Formats: sequence, C-alpha cells, structure tokens
Amino acid sequence: MAAAGLRRGRCLIVTDDHVGPLYADRLEQALLGAGWSPRRYTVPAGESTKSLPHLQKIYDVALSWGIDRRTPVIALGGGVVGDLAGFAAATLLRGLPLVQLPTSLIAQVDSAIGGKTGINHVVGKNLIGAFHQPALVCADPETLATLPPREWTSGLAEAVKHAFIADADLLAYVEQHMPAILERDPSVTHPLICRAAAIKAAVVGEDEREAGRRAILNFGHTFGHAIERVAGYGVFTHGEAVALGMRAALYLSRCLHPDLPLERADRLLRQIPVQGRLADLPIPALMQAMHADKKVDGRTLRFVVLRRLGEAYVTADVSHDDVEAAWLFARGELD
Ligand SMILES: NC(=O)c1ccc[n+]([C@@H]2O[C@H](COP(=O)([O-])OP(=O)(O)OC[C@H]3O[C@@H](n4cnc5c(N)ncnc54)[C@H](O)[C@@H]3O)[C@@H](O)[C@H]2O)c1
Repeated sequence: MAAAGLRRGRCLIVTDDHVGPLYADRLEQALLGAGWSPRRYTVPAGESTKSLPHLQKIYDVALSWGIDRRTPVIALGGGVVGDLAGFAAATLLRGLPLVQLPTSLIAQVDSAIGGKTGINHVVGKNLIGAFHQPALVCADPETLATLPPREWTSGLAEAVKHAFIADADLLAYVEQHMPAILERDPSVTHPLICRAAAIKAAVVGEDEREAGRRAILNFGHTFGHAIERVAGYGVFTHGEAVALGMRAALYLSRCLHPDLPLERADRLLRQIPVQGRLADLPIPALMQAMHADKKVDGRTLRFVVLRRLGEAYVTADVSHDDVEAAWLFARGELD
C-alpha cells in the first residue's frame, strides 16, 4: 500500500459474506501490523448487491465513520464487490483511493483491472457507474482454492477470451493444458491468470475510456448478453453465456475470414462446462435481445470478430443470415 502512495490511517474494507469469513481477518491483521486502522463492511454475496441501496449503506458507513480524501476503499472479493466498492470510492468525497483485492477468477483476470466501476439498474446491468482506476490491484491466486467450481469455469471463459482476442500463444497453452486447468492445478493456472490479466491491462492501457480498442474485450458478449437476457439472469453464469457467445462469434468470424480454424477453436470452447441449454432459447428472441442491447447503447449492433486467432476487431458489417447461422452453430445445430 505504501508503494502505491497510500498514506497510513483509516481504510474501509468492503467484502461479501462469502469472502469476508474466509479472508478478511487475515487482511485486517496484516493492515493492523502495517500501521493501518481498518474497518470492515460486509455486503451480501450476489449480483443483486450491485444496487443503490447497498451503495447507500457504504456511503452511510464511510461518512459516519469519518473518512477523508486519502482514506482508501479496499474491495476484497469478486467482481460484484469490486464494482460496488469501486463506485463508492469513485463518488465518495469526489474520489477516494481504491485498492482491488480480487478473489474470484473473473475479478483477477478481468473486473479488478481497468477502472470500470458501477452498479445495476432495473433497465440493465452496469448502467450507473464511473471510470475510477485503482491505486493498487493485488491478486493472490491462492484465494481461488475456495472458489465454487461453477465460478471457476465462469472465470475461465473470460481468461480464454483474452487469449482469443490478443494472444495465440496463450491459446495454444490453454489447449495443451485444458484438463489441468479444469482441475485447477496451480502450476498451470497461475501462469494463465498472470498472462490473461496482463492482456486486460495492456488493452485497457491503450484505451482507458473505451473509445476504440477496449471494445475487443467484448468478444462473445453481444451474443452472451442476449443469452443472459432471454434466459433470465442467473440461469447461465455470465462466463457461461460468454463461452457460448464466443462459439457464435467464432462462427461469425469464420464467415468473414474463411481461413479461421473454427473447428479447432470451437473444440477448446466446448471443454468449458456450461450448465443450462442454449437450445431451449428461441433464436428469434435471442436476435431481438441483441437489438435491445443496441437500443440501450444507442449505437448500431456491433460484433467483435477474429481476423485470426489472437487478433480481434469490431465490425457492424455482418449479415442477418450469418448472425442467425452463428446462433445455430453455438447450439450445435450446424457444422
Ligand atoms: N468492472 C469490470 O470491468 C467488469 C468486468 C467483468 C465483470 N464485471 C462484473 O463482475 C461481476 C461478476 O464477477 P464475479 O464472477 O467475481 O462475481 P461475484 O463477485 O458475485 O463472485 C462470484 C461468487 O463467488 C464468491 N467468491 C468470490 N471469491 C471467492 C473465493 N475466493 N472463495 C469463495 N467464494 C468466492 C462470491 O462471494 C460470489 O458468491 C458482475 O457483476 C460483472 O458485471 C465487471
């Protein structure tokens, strides 16, 4: 913390009721030992916590405790805690230092890096928020040992996504080690986490406010968001929806770039376990949901596609028929 330029004093730890009992005591002891005065605030685990009422409670705790502009907010948990506590840090006293201590795989390779913070609104996810870069991100991959299996595979989809869009060598590494990755062998997963996190940092470093290149991080997400929307949130995890969405996006990529090794790439994605059946979701509803996303964005419908493995770009130049075929492919109804 000192190396990140943070001055000793009070600090507010925000965690959830799954992660807090596992790791917050240890964190508090370490902070006390280093001369900090921590206070812990615990929110309920789960996506519904990314909401105004929980944000309000963090404001209440922080302001009634007595914070100043140099009081860091420490987010200890997954992407939900990171986004919520991050937005509290972005807005309290016009911006407090933020420390991200990500404990889920999604948070370690993705959400803790890049400065997007926010909460959900009934109209849609992540619609209220701010860019607020953390002063420090510190990920301990050993905390992942307690992550539930479904959360692991969900995060794996995002890590694999980073390989698809930016690093063909990492993709080959994942292909080679998939069984050990699914078994969570640390000797194999730690390098994957480091490299996937570095890709996120590099992409964001080039385009902090998502004016251009950062959008490639949405590979599989135009399809994935539609899956989440049609199935109802919670049926598929976000990572599961993205894994299926990437299968569709790969098909679409091959429509534009016939040399793309679709079969090889798809074989890798099919190894990521997904609960829930895409075939249960009607294609017209999925197509409509993609356009609803566009309406929220106020932009034309855009897709992230691969020119080759490890190289992505954004395009709106795709045909309706190809998008429909991509859905069929992701459902396993097309070769
Ligand atoms: N800000 C960004 O750039 C960005 C990027 C991707 C996703 N997100 C957001 O991140 C959220 C998803 O992140 P997530 O999957 O981490 O969700 P999450 O925070 O809900 O964590 C998933 C579950 O795992 C538990 N958990 C986390 N770490 C654990 C550990 N080490 N041991 C045991 N249990 C643990 C949590 O308590 C929760 O029950 C979504 O809200 C999404 O919108 C944000």
